[in-house]
Amino acid sequence: MNLGLRNKVAIVAASSQGIGKATAESFAAEGCRVAMCARNADALKSAADQISKQHGVEVLAEPFDVTDETAVREFVKAVVDKFGSADICVTNAGGPPAKGFLGASVDDWRKAIDLNLLSTVYFAREVIPHMQRKHWGRIITITSITTKQPVPDLVLSNSVRAGVVGLVKSLANEFGKDGILVNNVGPGFTATDRLKELAKSRSAAQGSSEKEIFEGWAVDSAVKRLGEPREVADTIVWLASERASYITGQTILVDGGAYKGL
Ligand SMILES: NC(=O)c1ccc[n+]([C@@H]2O[C@H](COP(=O)([O-])OP(=O)(O)OC[C@H]3O[C@@H](n4cnc5c(N)ncnc54)[C@H](OP(=O)(O)O)[C@@H]3O)[C@@H](O)[C@H]2O)c1
Repeated sequence: MNLGLRNKVAIVAASSQGIGKATAESFAAEGCRVAMCARNADALKSAADQISKQHGVEVLAEPFDVTDETAVREFVKAVVDKFGSADICVTNAGGPPAKGFLGASVDDWRKAIDLNLLSTVYFAREVIPHMQRKHWGRIITITSITTKQPVPDLVLSNSVRAGVVGLVKSLANEFGKDGILVNNVGPGFTATDRLKELAKSRSAAQGSSEKEIFEGWAVDSAVKRLGEPREVADTIVWLASERASYITGQTILVDGGAYKGL
């Protein structure tokens, strides 16, 4: 299948490791020019160098925090200055801490909104005018299975990510006429460092071992295993492609069937 992505410019936020890095790699494998960011400059540089070498594509990598509106604006400008466009934008960030409602402070709520909702707003505000000019664009948000099915002790993710879905649907409705498709991808339990953090905090709270926690997550899915970052990444790349040209405003879970609803 020809995905029609060769030479497109793909921004992938929060991409030095985990699902973001796998997504940057999958776009590079399709011949896209890739723009990456994360806070830790060394980890980001090493991920960017590896991707550029392995796939022979140009990569722009800038270290910054996606909660910094000015830094996002300057980054998108640098991408357009270097590559001439911002065709695809995948928004991503770390996840908010695992907490129950009474354990979460108002400051935790503000930080979660900054990290997962406002960072998405910042990227969308910057890339949409460039996409409008080309009458072609793709915005894909990375959120979580929590957008369909709340996960215990993730009240911040369960709540704030719903706002991202509202944003996705609104942007899809407003900018479909401009050739811009906007979708949300919700990973289920995927083998990354984020999942190790969650296993640690759940293990401390429940008194079970981290191994038992991982096994419980695997058994909870229909396919009885955790996901691999590459499986989420390839779904994102397909959604960005010409092969998914009539899909917008949707949430697609990549969760091995962990979501229990119809
Ligand atoms: N893994 C799962 O099972 C799972 C399931 C559902 C949802 N998710 C969600 O999917 C997203 C990606 O998860 P992951 O598992 O790939 O996480 P991960 O392995 O912890 O990677 C997170 C990446 O984001 C970067 N990052 C974090 N905060 C950032 C910030 N404020 N500004 C810029 N970059 C930032 C990190 O680099 P720096 O630390 O250097 O900034 C790193 O590159 C998260 O929102 C997570 O909650 C994950």
